[in-house]
Amino acid sequence: MATIGIMDSGSGGLSVLKEIVRLLPADKFLYYSDNANCPYGEKSAEFIQKRCREIVSDFLAQGADAVVIACNTATAAAIAELRKEWPDVPFVGMEPAVKPAALGTKTGVIGVLATAGTLKASKYLDTRDHYAGDVKVVERVGRGFVELVESLQLGGHLAEATVRESLEPLLRAGADTIVLGCTHYPFLLPVLEKVAGPDVRFIDPAPAAARQLVRMLDSRGIAHSQPHDPALQDVTIKSSGQSETARRLLSLIW
Ligand code: DGL
Repeated sequence: MATIGIMDSGSGGLSVLKEIVRLLPADKFLYYSDNANCPYGEKSAEFIQKRCREIVSDFLAQGADAVVIACNTATAAAIAELRKEWPDVPFVGMEPAVKPAALGTKTGVIGVLATAGTLKASKYLDTRDHYAGDVKVVERVGRGFVELVESLQLGGHLAEATVRESLEPLLRAGADTIVLGCTHYPFLLPVLEKVAGPDVRFIDPAPAAARQLVRMLDSRGIAHSQPHDPALQDVTIKSSGQSETARRLLSLIW
C-alpha cells in the first residue's frame, strides 16, 4: 500500500483527503495542518515555499510515496519549486476548476471564490485566461471563510452573514456556476447553497485532484488500494498548532 502525505494551511485539506479515501480506502495517510501559520492567503510566496519544503521533508522522512498539496494557495506559491527540488516525488496540487465551470455555465458568467494569494498568482491567472474563453469570470476572496472553518462554525448566523458578503457580488453579476478555489470552502457548502439558492452550482476540484493522484501512482508503478477494498482509516494528523479542529472535522467527514 502507498503512503500519501497531504498538507494544507489548516484543516481545509481534509476536504481533499475525503475524496482521496473514496478511491484509496486502505492506504496510509499523513495529514499536516500548518494551523499555527493559518491563513496562508495573505502570506508571501517565500514564506509558503519555506513551510512547504519543511513539511514535505517531514513526509518524505516518514516514507511518503506521493505528496498532495491540498491547498490552492500553497499550490500556486510553491508546487513548481517543490517539483524542482524533488523531481522524483509525485506531487499533486489543487487546480481551480475554471475549465469545467466555463463549459457548464448557461448564463455565460462564472464565479471564483479563493484566497487573495491564489487570485493574484500567475498559476491561476494563466488557467483562467486559457480556459475562460468568452465566459465572464467574476472573482472574490471568501473573506473570513477560512476562519469560520478553523473555528468549526460551519452553520448559523455568523457563517451565513460572512458567506453572503462574498457570495452576493457573484450572484448579482449573474454567475450560475461557482468554483470553490480554496480547500476550506467545501466545508461551508451547505451555507453557500442556502445563500445562493437552487439555480447555482458549486464546483469542488477535490474529486479531480484525487483522480489525478491515482493516475500518478499508477504511472509510477506505486501499489495502492482499490475503491472496493475495506477502509483502514489509517490517518495520522500532525499540526503546527492545536490539532483539535482537524480531528473534529475528520470525525465529521468520516
Ligand atoms: N485551504 C487553503 C487554500 O486552498 C488555504 C487557505 C488559507 O490558509 O488562506 O487556499
